[in-house]
Amino acid sequence: MPPVSPYQPSLLRLLHGAMVVLVPLCWLSGFVVYSNQDGRWGRLAWVIPGEWIDIHGTFGVLLWPLALLFALYALSLGRSRLRQAANAAALIALVLAVGSGKLMNEAWLRSGQLDHLVYGAHLTAWLLIAAVVIWHLTAVLRRGGRALASSMLQLQVRANDQPRHWPSQVKTWFQRRA
Ligand code: HEM
Repeated sequence: MPPVSPYQPSLLRLLHGAMVVLVPLCWLSGFVVYSNQDGRWGRLAWVIPGEWIDIHGTFGVLLWPLALLFALYALSLGRSRLRQAANAAALIALVLAVGSGKLMNEAWLRSGQLDHLVYGAHLTAWLLIAAVVIWHLTAVLRRGGRALASSMLQLQVRANDQPRHWPSQVKTWFQRRA
């Protein structure tokens, strides 16, 4: 019998997919902001022109509400997956990066104020999320190979897992807890 390929619920894939797109965009644009405005521990050899603080802020504004929904999903319907340490670490790093980002004041970097505690926390979270996403990916590949990794990126949806089934999936989770 051929091995059964893993299947991820469509709501998880949608929210997780938003993280897979937006987290790297935030990370890369954040790196350009760091290089242009800070650069204390090294910077790119050239300045990439553009309003990078605004660009990074726009990605951040798109990320935070979706990260909130993703975190709520992970803590409820997806909770069993958080028994994997690398999944739980990815969620914690995401919350730290988004939370510290929400507390950032864009005027600080524009006026060269680099010593705010919140900015230090945001930079640390930025480093942490890179390390943790590498760990998360390595752990997924080690546990289930390419089949598990690609199950999170596939687009096919089972007949009983259409968007119209999401409310009843959430309701069932709450009913089981009651
Ligand atoms: C870019 C940032 C990423 C973050 C913040 C992230 C975060 C997470 C979190 C928190 C979970 C657990 C979800 C739950 O509890 O329901 C998870 C699961 C998973 N992620 Fe990611 N992830 C990222 C990137 C990726 C990438 C690029 C892949 C590969 C395609 C991937 C593949 C998976 C898989 C296969 C699972 C399910 C693992 C399992 O069943 O234990 N992730 N991810």
